[in-house]
This record gives sequence, structure tokens and C-alpha cells, in this order.
Amino acid sequence: MEGLQLQSQTDKKGKLYVIGIGPGSVEQLTIASRDAILNSDYIIGNGTYLDQVKELLNDQKIIRSHMGKEVDRAKKAVELAEDNVVSMVSGGDANVYGMAGLVLEVAEHHELDVDIEVLPGVTAITAGASVLGAPIVNDFAVISLSDLLTPWERIEKRLMAASEADFIISLYNPKSRQRNSNFRRAIEIIQKTRDGSSPVGLVKNALRGDSQEMKVTTLDKVLDYDDWVDMRTMILITTPESRIWGGNGMEKIITPRGYQRKYDY
Ligand SMILES: C[S@@+](CC[C@H](N)C(=O)[O-])C[C@H]1O[C@@H](n2cnc3c(N)ncnc32)[C@H](O)[C@@H]1O
Repeated sequence: MEGLQLQSQTDKKGKLYVIGIGPGSVEQLTIASRDAILNSDYIIGNGTYLDQVKELLNDQKIIRSHMGKEVDRAKKAVELAEDNVVSMVSGGDANVYGMAGLVLEVAEHHELDVDIEVLPGVTAITAGASVLGAPIVNDFAVISLSDLLTPWERIEKRLMAASEADFIISLYNPKSRQRNSNFRRAIEIIQKTRDGSSPVGLVKNALRGDSQEMKVTTLDKVLDYDDWVDMRTMILITTPESRIWGGNGMEKIITPRGYQRKYDY
């Protein structure tokens, strides 16, 4: 019996890679993710993410999916991965509001014996932070303002807690067509407990070539950019311990790690 089980395990040739493809350009992919995509039978993903890796697509069979079809996409991927090598591509990191959770949940729910490997990617907070200089070199919290799957009351509670606990706060999903006021509401909550002089960085299309844009401001003025913020923007709200260095559109945000308390430099 044991021998038979071993046989069927080794015969299985399917595998599912859930790949975080990073913020947008193929240069930001890990080598492991690039190899997985190149060596897959099927690549499945939302059209935007497939386009971001198009130079790696040749003989693989492509399954193009759409926003809002995440459950169907996850089901299709685990189904195909029983007998094929499949790469599911997800933006940024697949663990950060990405497809990794749903894929594992679907496999668990259907009790499928599929070999799944999640490959990490550069997420928006690290992509945006690199554009802004060094704003997150201390403890931070990431909060999504999307209330499609999380009730808004819970988001408000987290915003208040993170602000009171002095975390650097990164906001994802600040807006969409249906949720235009969430960004303003979130900032007003943080302003209740955080000093208005705290530096704030906003990055749109981080590490996406010429479409990248950034703004550096302070918490008391950030709502001047309310109309500029969109669903391709991530926001970093630091604390009064951080500072803005430079000017003329070349501003950087520096968050000290605390070396100055121990060393002279
Ligand atoms: C559903 S979340 C997906 C996050 C993704 N899994 C990640 O790890 O970056 C989408 C949100 O991430 C942020 N985002 C993703 N890529 C970005 C980029 N290149 N520049 C700025 N923000 C980005 C935006 O706030 C966007 O609304």
C-alpha cells in the first residue's frame, strides 16, 4: 500500500507557482519567478499582469482572466495544475492582497493534492519606499482602504490603532470609482492623533517606467492631493521622527532607524 502511494506521488507532474511579478516591469522579477514563467505549460492571470510579463511569453498556453473573476481564476489554476506546470501571475507580491490566499483556500476546500509554491515579489510598499528614499526603515503597518471584502468599520479601527501606536502607515487601494472618499476619510482619522508635520510620500505607478510619479508633502497638506490620488497610488504616512531632505522635485524622506542615538556620524 505504502509503495503504491509513493508511486502515485512520483508520477504526478503538475505544479502550481503563484508568482508575485512585482510592481510592473520585468526587471523587478526575481530569477526564480522568471524561470517558473519560462518553464510553465500554462500562464494564467489578469490581462494587466500578463501584459507586464509579455516578453517572457512564448510557447506557454495563456489564460487571460479579468478583475472580479478571481475565484474562477483560482479554481482553473488548481484544476490545471493537477497535470500541468502552471504559473499564476499576480501583481506585486501574491501574499499582499494578492492571489496566494485564494489559491490555497480553493485547494484546501476541494481537498486537492496539488503541489503549490508561492514565489515572492516586490510589493508596492517597498517599491514606493525605494522611490521616496528611506521612509520605512522602522516599524510600519500596511492598510488597504478597499471595503469590498473588509467592512469599513474594521478599516477605521485599524487606521486609528496604527496611528495611535506610532506606526509608519502605508495605504493601499486608496480609491476606486465606487470608493472615491475612502482616502479622505482615512487621512482625517490619522490626522486626529498624528502631528501634521509628519512627512507623507505618494507614489503613483512605482517602478513602472515613465508613468511613475511622486509627491512629497506633510500630513496637514496631503489632502491637497486628493484629486491626484487614484487606484495606482500608494501612500506612506510617516511620523514626526522622519524628515524631508532635498527639494525641487528631488525630495527624499528619511526615517531614522535610531543609529544617531548610539553613534556619531
Ligand atoms: C489589490 S492591491 C495589490 C497589491 C499587490 N499585491 C502588491 O503586493 O503590491 C492594489 C493596490 O496596490 C498599490 N499598488 C500596486 N502596485 C503599485 C505601484 N506600482 N505603484 C503604486 N501603488 C501600487 C495601489 O495602492 C493599488 O491600489
